[in-house]
Amino acid sequence: MNEKIFKALNEQIKHEFYSSYLYLSIASYFENIPLEGFAKWFRKQAEEEQEHGMKIYQYILDRNLHVDLQGIEKPTGHFNSIEEVFELALKHEKKVTHWIHQIYDIAVAEKDHATHIFLQWFISEQVEEEKNAQDNLDQIKLIGDDKGALFVLDQNFAKKAS
Ligand SMILES: [Fe+2]
Ligand SMILES: [Fe+2]
Repeated sequence: MNEKIFKALNEQIKHEFYSSYLYLSIASYFENIPLEGFAKWFRKQAEEEQEHGMKIYQYILDRNLHVDLQGIEKPTGHFNSIEEVFELALKHEKKVTHWIHQIYDIAVAEKDHATHIFLQWFISEQVEEEKNAQDNLDQIKLIGDDKGALFVLDQNFAKKAS
């Protein structure tokens, strides 16, 4: 495997685990409010992000290389509003999409066909992730200050997460 791709993939493992950390931090915010449906949903996202990281981890091993794990940054633990949280989640998913596309571009440029195909799953996954994050933000904006609607939405999130 080309050195640039190897480096980018190891970085991406870090980004996926950071995503998991960020979503755990968000889940803890919701546990405290308490909006347990949202908390449950973000805990599930956190698990999925770890799975993404492990997919890349396994791919590096499948290519007979040693995984070079990087340090994971501390996620923010301070949130001012529910809307701010969902805005942050959307912004973060867009960043992840950008990183995945960057690795894909390197794989294409370096003619690494295997990595190219491997990343296609992540590209489709990001379409889904961005869509969900956008829908969530739209719903939060739509209900505004309606506490009753927030309660119902929280229950919907609990259902979505189970
Ligand atoms: Fe991910
Ligand atoms: Fe994600």
